[in-house]
Amino acid sequence: SLPSRVTIWEVGARDGLQNESTVVPVAVKLEFLSRLADAGLSVLEATSFVHPKWVPQLADAAELLSGLDARPGVSYPVLVPNERGLDRAIEAGVRHIAIFASATETFASRNLNRTLDSQFEMFEPTVKRALSAGMDVRGYVSMCFGDPWEGAVPRSQVVAVGERLLEMGCSQLSLGDTIGVATPGQVESLIEGFRDVTKLAVHFHDTYGQALSNTLAALRCGVTTVDSSAGGLGGCPYAESATGNLATEDLVWMLDGLGIETGVDLDKLVECSVWMAEQLGRPSPSRVVRALAK
Ligand code: HMG
Ligand code: MG
Repeated sequence: SLPSRVTIWEVGARDGLQNESTVVPVAVKLEFLSRLADAGLSVLEATSFVHPKWVPQLADAAELLSGLDARPGVSYPVLVPNERGLDRAIEAGVRHIAIFASATETFASRNLNRTLDSQFEMFEPTVKRALSAGMDVRGYVSMCFGDPWEGAVPRSQVVAVGERLLEMGCSQLSLGDTIGVATPGQVESLIEGFRDVTKLAVHFHDTYGQALSNTLAALRCGVTTVDSSAGGLGGCPYAESATGNLATEDLVWMLDGLGIETGVDLDKLVECSVWMAEQLGRPSPSRVVRALAK
């Protein structure tokens, strides 16, 4: 069976813009977020408090947060890898963070400069302090279905990393197909490996055009939070062959058709993505954006 309502976790401003070759001006980011909220999206992952040399595209995180409108019912979670990032987030008044773990050794090293084991030494004190400050903490797991350097990733390894983040106190776990290689059978199998499906979200990149099918498979397993990015922006600068996320428009078209509520106004969202594509100087890869753009 399918859920009657899905929460869309919009990652365009973070996962999307972290992968742009040019730095988008903070005023454009703020207008993007404001248009996303106007379109009815209520969870807007805004930016990352990571090392500015690692991701210069998001080096303006503090300035961005100070310019955001507080809107009732809209939350602006941010990525935080470590205690230094947490300090910066606290200073900026953040209430909702996400840590991001790797399911593989190679990506832990490339994305976090840590080993598979030592990434937890960075997360543990970070999560502990965030929780005691009353923050909500999401946990991501990357490379859940395949890794560009290591190939197939054993399900048991992904589940072990994910369960550890949940034990630390993460309220939700987002299962990332960082390079977009998963197919629906693998998605079902991984979800079945976790104890509590109500804690899971899915995060598909659309490299192989499977993101929407994978999402439907996850919904049938009981998942009700789906990550996507407006216009299909996205990727990861530290993962070879990672292209954009599942486009929010493609997701909303499917969910609308299934009668599943999202609170999103698709026409307004398409308008937002067409505007953003103009800012970036290239068309959106989303099929739904192209079909509906006026
Ligand atoms: P490191 O070099 O090991 O850091 O990087 P360190 O702890 O050794 O510290 C070195 C220096 O960096 C110190 O300064 C720290 O203060 C400073 P110094 O004492 O030398 O002057 N520093 C910081 N400065 C600002 N903000 C910070 C910070 N941390 C340390 N947060 C680190 C380790 C984790 C920081 C680095 O590897 C990093 O920033 N990585 C982030 C990479 C990233 O953002 N990747 C993209 C997001 S993940 C993703 O996209 C996947 C996802 O979408 C899901 C999916 O698709 O699967 C979520
Ligand atoms: Mg991602």
